[in-house]
Amino acid sequence: MNGELFAPESGAPQNLAPGACLLPGFALAQACELREVVEQVFAAAPPRRWLTPGGRRMAVAMSNCGPLGWVSDEHGYRYAALDPDSGRPWPALDARLALLAGEAAATAGFAGFVPDACLVNRYQPGTALSLHQDKDERDLGQPIVSISLGLPAVFLFGGLRRADPCLRMALHDGDVVVWGGPARLRYHGVAALKPGRHPLWGEQRINLTLRKAG
Ligand code: SIN
Ligand code: FE2
Repeated sequence: MNGELFAPESGAPQNLAPGACLLPGFALAQACELREVVEQVFAAAPPRRWLTPGGRRMAVAMSNCGPLGWVSDEHGYRYAALDPDSGRPWPALDARLALLAGEAAATAGFAGFVPDACLVNRYQPGTALSLHQDKDERDLGQPIVSISLGLPAVFLFGGLRRADPCLRMALHDGDVVVWGGPARLRYHGVAALKPGRHPLWGEQRINLTLRKAG
């Protein structure tokens, strides 16, 4: 018997740059739990397209779980303990999800990562996320753990300057990317999602990014 029969899409960690690593299929075994987590988050805090400080609507629909959630409006980007749409705290950060993120971070060389925020991004066909840095978190010594679910997407992973060339790589269902240390402030984004239908997730891609924000 060939082990690949049982884990056809998980594989060895791949270094992307110093401090950045792709863990192929790392979250695949937890697909069903993650589906439940996302359903519960969206039921309590429906995904919405934030207004940017520049007055435009983001294409990606976003929600959060955990003590802190990333929000945007005409005043800027920030983390907030309450969902501004409902006035209630964000749904709790599922313990299994926090553990999975900690394990992914440790595998990538960042031991002791305990997230307090998880952005839940929903991409539909045509949705893209432009190049940006994740820099609203207080402690940039902590990494970012990004879990991709559903339809595949092309992830753009650039350098420390916006104009630096970007790696373009496919991220599939269950793939996890971790970046921290010297890679923590690298620009990154997502190319427009191609149409398709995923057996578990339907016509969408979900991305969870776990952070230590506060
Ligand atoms: C993000 O940069 O917040 C999300 C990245 C992704 O969707 O892969
Ligand atoms: Fe980001």
